[in-house]
Amino acid sequence: MKQVPFAADRIHFGGDYNPEQWPREVWDEDMRLMRESGVSIVSLGIFGWAQVEPRPGEYDFAWVDDVMDRLAGAEVAVSLATMTASPPPWMARLHPETLPVREDGTVLHPGARQHYCPSSPVYRRYAVALVERLAERYGDHPALALWHVGNEYGCHVSLSYSYAAEEGFRAWLRERYGDLDALNDAWSTAFWSQRYGDWEEVQPPRTAPTFPNPAQQLDFRRYSSDALLACYAAEVEVLRRVTPQVPVTTNLLGVWKPVDYFRWAPQLDVVSHDSYPDPNDPETHVRVAFAYDLMRSIGDGAPWLLMEQAPSAVNWRRRNAPKRDGQMRLWSYQAIAHGADAIMYFQWRQSRGGAEKFHSAMVPHAGTDTRVHRAVRELGRELDGLAELAGTRTAADVAVMLDWSSWWALELESHPSADLLQMEAVHEHYLPLWEANVACDVVSPGGDLGRYRLVVVPNLYLLSGADAARLDRFVRDGGHVIVSFFSGIVDEADRVHLGGYPAPLCETLGISVEEHWPLDDGEEVALELGDERGTGTLWSEHVRLEGAEAVAVFGSGELAGRPAVTRHGRGRGVATYVATRPERPLMASILARACADAGVAPVHLSLPPGVEATRRRGDDGREYLFLLNHGRGTAEVALAPGADDLLGGRVDDGTLLLEERGVAIVREQGSATTAQGRPR
Ligand code: GLA
Repeated sequence: MKQVPFAADRIHFGGDYNPEQWPREVWDEDMRLMRESGVSIVSLGIFGWAQVEPRPGEYDFAWVDDVMDRLAGAEVAVSLATMTASPPPWMARLHPETLPVREDGTVLHPGARQHYCPSSPVYRRYAVALVERLAERYGDHPALALWHVGNEYGCHVSLSYSYAAEEGFRAWLRERYGDLDALNDAWSTAFWSQRYGDWEEVQPPRTAPTFPNPAQQLDFRRYSSDALLACYAAEVEVLRRVTPQVPVTTNLLGVWKPVDYFRWAPQLDVVSHDSYPDPNDPETHVRVAFAYDLMRSIGDGAPWLLMEQAPSAVNWRRRNAPKRDGQMRLWSYQAIAHGADAIMYFQWRQSRGGAEKFHSAMVPHAGTDTRVHRAVRELGRELDGLAELAGTRTAADVAVMLDWSSWWALELESHPSADLLQMEAVHEHYLPLWEANVACDVVSPGGDLGRYRLVVVPNLYLLSGADAARLDRFVRDGGHVIVSFFSGIVDEADRVHLGGYPAPLCETLGISVEEHWPLDDGEEVALELGDERGTGTLWSEHVRLEGAEAVAVFGSGELAGRPAVTRHGRGRGVATYVATRPERPLMASILARACADAGVAPVHLSLPPGVEATRRRGDDGREYLFLLNHGRGTAEVALAPGADDLLGGRVDDGTLLLEERGVAIVREQGSATTAQGRPR
């Protein structure tokens, strides 16, 4: 059999393939249709465990052999699943201790999927044994291009409070703290008589009479993300040993609270992402743009794979709208515009039975003479002609800071306000940048800040002293930061940094905060920013100037006349502080001023509302300007004369007409008209 290439020299196209749900006659048709549709890769066998290991230790790979051979014959590469995402029913019967447990003790039973406790050594033992078999059997198969480990780790079960988890948590804590004194200190157990005298007393934060210890909860979040990562790593260890030549990935959920992707990314050869924008959410394309920037950033700028998206509707929201004409194509190109080198779907053929039978597929129930299948085919054909985009990269001068520990800690209970949510905060900072077509990366507090001109820090509640010092050095060295309220409040163990909030950033920002004044639901506070007037919601606070100047003041309420936005020149840089959630136009002004001060240019200077612009660059100076019309009606975009749209759009007298949901990819020859992004 001929080796099926899975080279980085094309935009790959395909989807999840679940042939085990269909009789063999259908497989013949699948191969023909895949070829006709331009499919270059499929993810195979993700939920195949019960069919390859019908009884413990008894393996039957005949159907996988057959499908792998057929796919090789059809020149379709395979991202072969390790099949461990959902254990067969026998595991729960023989080993009920492998089942996940909720914080109140409820056991989650088999009958759906992902019914395993990530801490279970028994589950891991069976999983690794299966992976060993798969690696030995298919390592040299000509269709094998990539290993797809597990599936969407933590999608349904991210926190399990089983006895295996209790033991795993203790071992993890011993490793982190060394001895009980250090744990007692970090967890502030002098409070509420929580002091531990023996390791056996330490438990996961199970349902308790009132607020559980926040440091314990935070560590359990960390532990649980690491437990999932350990499941992944155990499989990867086998794969790297048996098939070192085959890259490994797992499909990440994007901005997914339970799993710290900054810790995962170094263990992936290529980042993969599943993206399900909601057609009923008018800002869905902005939310996914952030997720795509995150996926690109955790992979250090390398192209990533859009591993799953819906061809049209999903089945798991309350109301599942189909994608409108042109929307699937637009959103696919949006992923490419943000650095994806593969467009894949869940799934190839729409299931006949089971919980996902109303989830759209590349081959719908109604067959191939359908709107959805035609759109899939057309995109497959189009992507086949866009090989030159593969491997190109995006550069950004701005980074938005995100940290999972801080996210987890921020959303614990008993804070000044329960309304401050991390992803909403990120969205309110990212949206004005997106609207201004400013390219952004996402950076962790420990990441390389030096490559950016401006770092935006949306409500980063938990910040270690060391990371605060790095941020300060970044500013002194000429960087610009915008820090929003309730940042730098606590250390890694959720203990307040003393000396006035936010103690480790006070010198950087030239302010200190005496008291928080969160706003009530629907309450607004007036803001005066130069000549601009507007409102803030969610939060206000008593800010004291300690070197900074006030660029906006509160115009109403108890804090009227006091600083609401401040600006502080420090070293060669500038630090801006925002003490409320300004309404969007004001937030846009604050960000625009910071961008201007920092010398950050947008990708395109003047675009109609709703038109997104990004740029990808090749090592050889080739540049591609992506223009995506998410807005209403046809948009007119000014381009350099002679510009050429790879998708065949019309450019008349330097004007490109971009239909509603239209896309253009303009080839530019090293002629960066605007963006100053630093290549990475
Ligand atoms: C996830 C899973 C798939 C499927 C889709 C449906 O992405 O990985 O198996 O359930 O959701 O949207």
